[in-house]
Amino acid sequence: MRGHSVLLIIGGGIAAYKSLELIRRLKERGVSVRAVLTRAGGEFITPLSVAALSGEQVFQDLFSLTDEAQMGHIELSRSADLVVVAPATADLMAKLANGHANDLASTALLATDKRVLMAPAMNVRMWNHPATRRNLATLKGDGVIFVGPGDGEMACGEFGPGRMAEPLEIVAAIDAALALPGPLSGLKALVTAGPTQEPLDPVRFLANRSSGKQGYAIADALARAGAETVLVSGPVAIAPPPRVKLLRVETAREMLAACESVLPVDVAVCAAAVADWRPESLADNKIKKGENAPALTLIANPDILATLSHGARRPALVVGFAAETENVIAFAQEKRLRKGCDWIVANDVGPGTGIMGGETNTVHLITANATESWPQLDKSEVGVRLAARIADALRGNAA
Ligand code: CTP
Repeated sequence: MRGHSVLLIIGGGIAAYKSLELIRRLKERGVSVRAVLTRAGGEFITPLSVAALSGEQVFQDLFSLTDEAQMGHIELSRSADLVVVAPATADLMAKLANGHANDLASTALLATDKRVLMAPAMNVRMWNHPATRRNLATLKGDGVIFVGPGDGEMACGEFGPGRMAEPLEIVAAIDAALALPGPLSGLKALVTAGPTQEPLDPVRFLANRSSGKQGYAIADALARAGAETVLVSGPVAIAPPPRVKLLRVETAREMLAACESVLPVDVAVCAAAVADWRPESLADNKIKKGENAPALTLIANPDILATLSHGARRPALVVGFAAETENVIAFAQEKRLRKGCDWIVANDVGPGTGIMGGETNTVHLITANATESWPQLDKSEVGVRLAARIADALRGNAA
């Protein structure tokens, strides 16, 4: 379970106290937990307890400007690997079964593209009511997974089914749900990211401003979609995503060798800002300051994207990036043909766009037949959308 993330929606029931224990058990197992506490849930446990145990901000309000500025409700619903509702009240089940979205919890449930696991908790008569039975059948039909409820004496004094499953039972159900295959399960992905550094002497190198954020976000999204993912990265200052195999490199030639070492793969995404040129010679010792400025002779580096696209072990789908500062779409279309890749993700990295090193990206997805312009999105969301498109293409659902 380590490295997975869960969005926990805590509904309004006395069993909410068990959700605090659930957070502890998940954290112990290396699962990160972000919580939504409904207004009714907040009558039973406090946001402070949830925040202290999860170590994350607790989200409560759909119309909170501060919450929304930090993480929009759509992104919140998709940022985790699994959405868990515990306790799932009769009301939350009814809302999702009927597609209501009138608070943060129900909106997140409707907006998510992840699996939903519910741990119902309610009075026995409420659980047995035909309305709840109908909602349960609808939700099961929609693919919602259920754990519990158990039989026993309830807080209301009645006896029967309706008790929320114990935290460790819910942990086991989460473990099983996380292990279910994703859209890219069984497939292998290669992602390049970050800059390359081309040494001049033992202390100097030529490099560029790439932060690696977009490539890391793509690798993360591919791994979360179930792909066995290898990330070949130049030197960057960000942590590797969980469940991704990281191969660190410095130069373009090392990056190419690392990529070739992981072939064959089903999909390759070349997001690295590879230096096109390197110094012709590498001085053994530090170049001393002389009378005159030294002349720098550069020679061409291998083109990793073109090499993968034209190679004998070509991945079924090769995706390149185009970093442009003018004529973005036209240059990118030309680059797709020149490099021989299937798709190009084009972005304008001109000064003032804030894309190099920033958190957001505005891209155009260029395929053989179409150009799609996506709105400005978080780099993580660009990764999620691209992974979904890759899954469609590799599964034969789309071109
Ligand atoms: N790329 C690569 N190896 C290189 C240069 C670029 O794999 N030696 C890949 C990048 O990872 C990206 C794509 O090629 O997917 C385009 O990179 P970009 O820098 O935009 O293009 P260049 O080839 O440098 O072309 P130009 O300088 O003319 O824009």
